[in-house]
Amino acid sequence: PESTEPERTAAEFVVVANRLPVDLERSADGTQRWTQSPGGLVSALEPFLRSRRGAWVGWPGVPDVEVDEFVDEGLILHPVRLTSDEVRDYYEGFSNATLWPLYHDVVARPVFDRGWWESYVRVNQRFAEASAQVAGQGATVWVQDYQLQLVPSILRELRPDLRIGFFLHIPFPPVELFMQLPWRAEIVRGLIGADLVGFHRPGGAQNFLWLARQLIGLEPSRGAVGVRSRPGMVQVGDRIVRVGSFPISIDAPGLDNVARSKHVADRAAQVRAELGNPKTILLGVDRLDYTKGIDLRLQALHELLHEGRISAEDVTFVQLATPSRERVEHYQRMRSDIEQMVGRINGEFARVGHPVVHYLHQSVNRTELAAFFSAADVMVVTPLRDGMNLVCKEYVACRHDLGGALVLSEFAGAAAELSSAFLVNPHDLDGVKNALEAAITLDPAEGRRRMRALRRQVLTHDVDRWARSFLEALGTEPTS
Ligand code: ADP
Ligand code: G6P
Repeated sequence: PESTEPERTAAEFVVVANRLPVDLERSADGTQRWTQSPGGLVSALEPFLRSRRGAWVGWPGVPDVEVDEFVDEGLILHPVRLTSDEVRDYYEGFSNATLWPLYHDVVARPVFDRGWWESYVRVNQRFAEASAQVAGQGATVWVQDYQLQLVPSILRELRPDLRIGFFLHIPFPPVELFMQLPWRAEIVRGLIGADLVGFHRPGGAQNFLWLARQLIGLEPSRGAVGVRSRPGMVQVGDRIVRVGSFPISIDAPGLDNVARSKHVADRAAQVRAELGNPKTILLGVDRLDYTKGIDLRLQALHELLHEGRISAEDVTFVQLATPSRERVEHYQRMRSDIEQMVGRINGEFARVGHPVVHYLHQSVNRTELAAFFSAADVMVVTPLRDGMNLVCKEYVACRHDLGGALVLSEFAGAAAELSSAFLVNPHDLDGVKNALEAAITLDPAEGRRRMRALRRQVLTHDVDRWARSFLEALGTEPTS
């Protein structure tokens, strides 16, 4: 009889994420092209996975398209199809209007919708099936992020031979907030299907262990979880599940190299000139997301200008904002608030030909971004909550000249590693204003001392180290 086994790609190493590292872009004239997908997950994982030649299972970023598996520079890309209803319910709905705000300290109110949950379950099932099809016998499958928290358990049922890791790229919330979720036990059961569940911070791991006890009656270890050490353990039937902390990072040596190139240095000088060679350039670079605190930094700037503590003649603020999740209501509201504030500040303080705030609702390429980082005197990173935040690490990686200053929210995961930044509580507007002023008037020798300390951290803790530490703990990598 004919075998009913689906055909397998038989990759030894598989990453599963909601998005492929590339997005299919369809223009009005019917032409198609692939562009890099937005966000930190892809920035971090892509360079690592390209060096491994594994497979990547994910959605191509547009609804209702059937794309065959293809190979891109040695990396197998396995597209998963989503219908437009699923994009609405699973992606924009449950992932980005339920889980995203719930996991980011409910800075926006999460919506709990049963139909969205059903779609989330269905789509997670599909991703698990696609992964089962791509993975070879005994392969390692590494599932990524909040959109796919049910995949580990479903995949384990389908393919008990696999080694399964899961990593959450966003914060794992305080247990009091997680308990609001009507499907809280299902999510914990979904994750527990992995052999290793990873979070950025030990606190996230600790919260998860508590929930495993309270919600599904397991008996996890009680010791404190360390950073890249002392993972928590839970016995689940005959398996041991490890739960640990693995702070993600960037391809720091790669970006350092890009920033050292003559092309980037020339372009940085050109950017400064195009901005009218102001004394101080402040820079913000974010996905346009309400968790990033873009409105707060604009408000701080506005007040500083108003109080005469800084002058529009000397200071220029550049905000690069990648368009994001544009059909979700909170994002639409926040965009119009921000654009109104930009208009207001320029209306009050700009001169013709000299805006105070340059706002680009656009994505720029890697070398252009490196030029902006190199040109900026003060990098302003003020999220209300952020799992890690890679932008601040990218800025540091670009400052081989030891110039520049970093203003960083305490509520970004990166703050735990970057203690030489000007750390601020973004809810404390006076504190943010004081930190901005201190960074603008920073003594150069003190600035170099701080930047040297920041670079020591970022350049020795790159994304390769992150991935290796995770895979070692998963037991699929020789210990270094
Ligand atoms: P998130 O994953 O929430 O978007 P991160 O700071 O972790 O936040 O990662 C954002 C990534 O997107 C970084 O690699 C950053 O360089 C990139 N990025 C953000 N804004 C832009 C922009 N306007 N143009 C190009 N890249 C951007
Ligand atoms: C964050 C999330 C990623 C997500 C990215 C971009 O980094 O952790 O999972 O891919 O934002 O968001 P998007 O909704 O466009 O994929």
